[in-house]
Amino acid sequence: MSFDYRIADITSHEAGRHQIRLAEHEMPGLMSLRAEYGESQPLAGARIAGSLHMTVQTAVLIETLTALGAEVRWASCNIFSTQDEAAAAVVVGPHGTPEDPQGVPVFAWKNESLEEYWWTASQIFAWPGVDEDPTVGANMILDDGADATMLVHKGVEFEAAGAVPSAQDSDPEEYHYVLATLRKSLQENPQRWTGIAKNLRGVTEETTTGVNRLYQFAREGKLLFPAINVNDSVTKSKFDNKYGVRHSLPDGIMRATDVLIGGKVSVVCGYGDVGKGAAEALRGQGSRVIITEIDPINALQAAMDGYQVARLEDVLETGDIFITTTGGKDIISAEAMQKMKNKAIVGNVGHFDNEVDIAGLAAIPGVQKVEIKPQVHEWVMPADGTRAQGHSIILLSEGRLLNLGNATGHPSFVMSSSFANQTIAQIELFAKTAPDYTGADRYETDVYVLPKVLDEKVARLHLDALGARLTELSKDQADYLGVDVAGPYKPEHYRY
Ligand code: NAI
Repeated sequence: MSFDYRIADITSHEAGRHQIRLAEHEMPGLMSLRAEYGESQPLAGARIAGSLHMTVQTAVLIETLTALGAEVRWASCNIFSTQDEAAAAVVVGPHGTPEDPQGVPVFAWKNESLEEYWWTASQIFAWPGVDEDPTVGANMILDDGADATMLVHKGVEFEAAGAVPSAQDSDPEEYHYVLATLRKSLQENPQRWTGIAKNLRGVTEETTTGVNRLYQFAREGKLLFPAINVNDSVTKSKFDNKYGVRHSLPDGIMRATDVLIGGKVSVVCGYGDVGKGAAEALRGQGSRVIITEIDPINALQAAMDGYQVARLEDVLETGDIFITTTGGKDIISAEAMQKMKNKAIVGNVGHFDNEVDIAGLAAIPGVQKVEIKPQVHEWVMPADGTRAQGHSIILLSEGRLLNLGNATGHPSFVMSSSFANQTIAQIELFAKTAPDYTGADRYETDVYVLPKVLDEKVARLHLDALGARLTELSKDQADYLGVDVAGPYKPEHYRY
């Protein structure tokens, strides 16, 4: 079999395969979906363009999708998050060799430039022959952060206008490369993205930030195809965002810096699902944790959970570790970083790198950036009248997701829950957007969450592996509560 791909080093595939094998054991949700649907092949005919951190756990997801009949092309959704040996194993496949890869075309490596990143994003749509016949291209997207979805939407918008705005019109550096990618595409084929979009049946989106983007497209009437919001399955956001970060945040800080977290003061910006996991992890290591919040409900939750709630400007000189988890922007300014304690650690686990003002930091006159090791930088501040030269902060993963940049992201078990939702969402959307599907529950161009009964199914798939025994309702008890013995057990408005 011959196909195009671009990864760091295909010879590392064996190391990747060993890790995938161990991960499979920790991913009961995905493995039981393979057992349940392996024969019926519900994804036969699905051609999935995937953009999600190319880790070992994602490898198990990809091979689950292909086991259910899908064809897949994959890129990472972050320049630092690829585990190169996992990418190699996916390309080679369980039965291939580096000389004769039998797996899936992957376009991802750790430490991509932004230009390369947007090239990889365009490659997941570059199915052989798609320019001549868009119907042979991707018909599904599996996205994390909505970059792939955004690329298609921008492509269509600019093709309709017949031009891509000049780079000067767009200030953020990252957007510059999106435009450059689309400008090149417009020259090569002025109808490429229009054709691709027409063939797409829908997208399943992994994370809070991506979901926010989709709802924004829908509100503005710009959404081009149906979307399933995987993030807001309870078994995703209340598990991955919280318990996943509880594991992978301290992992990232420790691998990056090896500082003792115990006894330090940590400041966590945002007390949503990710913030709750981050705060619990840092407190678990013996750190005193301070929370900043803009939402009174989350702030009150933090206070009731025993955390001090403060404003960032009041604790800049108190904190030893600063972590942003908001999904917002401009949370830690360059000025704030200048005021921090010497060797304060700054990192972000929100989806995009605009939570920490790196451009502002780089623009401080006289500031020096020292690479301690990849994805760990000391920024040495100039003398400013109150402090001598040499005062510095340690910035992790250049402000990008540090749990994936400095460590390997969430562990398998929690990703099994997230990815079981992804797989079920792909099956659901692919089936109920088929041209000949006429059911009343056909997905229209809007954003949906999975039905609660499927959310409960994902949870069930993970209980056995933990030795948990679920109590069964009697018919009498179920009638009393007004629910079905088989679920769903809670109304839609229940908050868990
Ligand atoms: P969320 O909406 O539950 O929580 C964010 C919280 O930040 C909210 O409570 C909000 O009020 C607060 N906030 C907003 N602006 C703020 C500001 N200026 N100062 C202080 N607090 C502020 O969202 P969730 O699910 O916790 O996700 C947060 C981010 O993390 C998103 O970008 C999401 O995509 C990303 N994410 C990252 C993961 C990782 O592995 N690193 C895993 C899952 C999500």
